[in-house]
Amino acid sequence: MGTNIVILTGAGISAESGLGTFRDEDGLWAQHRIEDVATPEGFARNPDLVHAFYNARRSNAAEATPNAAHHALAELEAELDGTLLIVTQNVDNLHEKAGSKNVLHMHGTLDGALCAACDHRWEAPPVMTKEDPCPACAAPATRPDVVWFGEIPYFMERIEQALDAADLFVSIGTSGEVYPAANFVAHADHIGAHTLELNLEPSAGASRFAEVHLGPASEIVPDWVARELAQTRS
Ligand code: APR
Repeated sequence: MGTNIVILTGAGISAESGLGTFRDEDGLWAQHRIEDVATPEGFARNPDLVHAFYNARRSNAAEATPNAAHHALAELEAELDGTLLIVTQNVDNLHEKAGSKNVLHMHGTLDGALCAACDHRWEAPPVMTKEDPCPACAAPATRPDVVWFGEIPYFMERIEQALDAADLFVSIGTSGEVYPAANFVAHADHIGAHTLELNLEPSAGASRFAEVHLGPASEIVPDWVARELAQTRS
């Protein structure tokens, strides 16, 4: 009977791939107001500004390549005697580019387009504009299929079921500032899973983890994966 691992990732795992984080001093929320670019109200007020913000992030993400941390998680999934689910808050596709298969994007993805009028979903074009007609209802109501503040994250039922069955919960590269993701550690701890934080610096929830390792993800994630695989192979 193998190990069931649930991993939560945040912007910090993609930082060394050149994609900005949100709350570091040079982060995205230092350059843009959340209420202008990451809320339904901001989109209704100024869709051009919101499309410009996500078009820029979509092109950065398209150019970015996975780093050693993404690759280590893909290796863990392939080699682990057990199950691995990656729940990511990130909207980039670097886990998939590294070869991870079992990935849930709870905040949506830059590769997704959503019709604000009829909820139709399709693959996003590289550049999205407010005039783009929805392929299903033709309304000019195209938006990024990204979960904004005040909206419900995706896959919560599957995430909670995976946490209920977890032996190990690992949080990588997230500040632990945003719910419901910031509560996954309490859920895992409550059902008796071991909890591990791998981050550049202690997150807001660090004290809730049984074990914390600090450092850049490209170093401490491969180190942890090597230890984990050595254990399950022994
Ligand atoms: N290696 C590991 N961790 C890093 C690295 C790195 N190279 N660089 C930064 N970090 C850590 C930071 O210390 C911080 O704790 O990654 C975390 C990034 O935190 P945030 O910028 O808040 O990003 P995240 O936690 O993913 O934000 C959660 O907030 O704005 C919303 O929807 C958005 O999904 C996002 C959510």
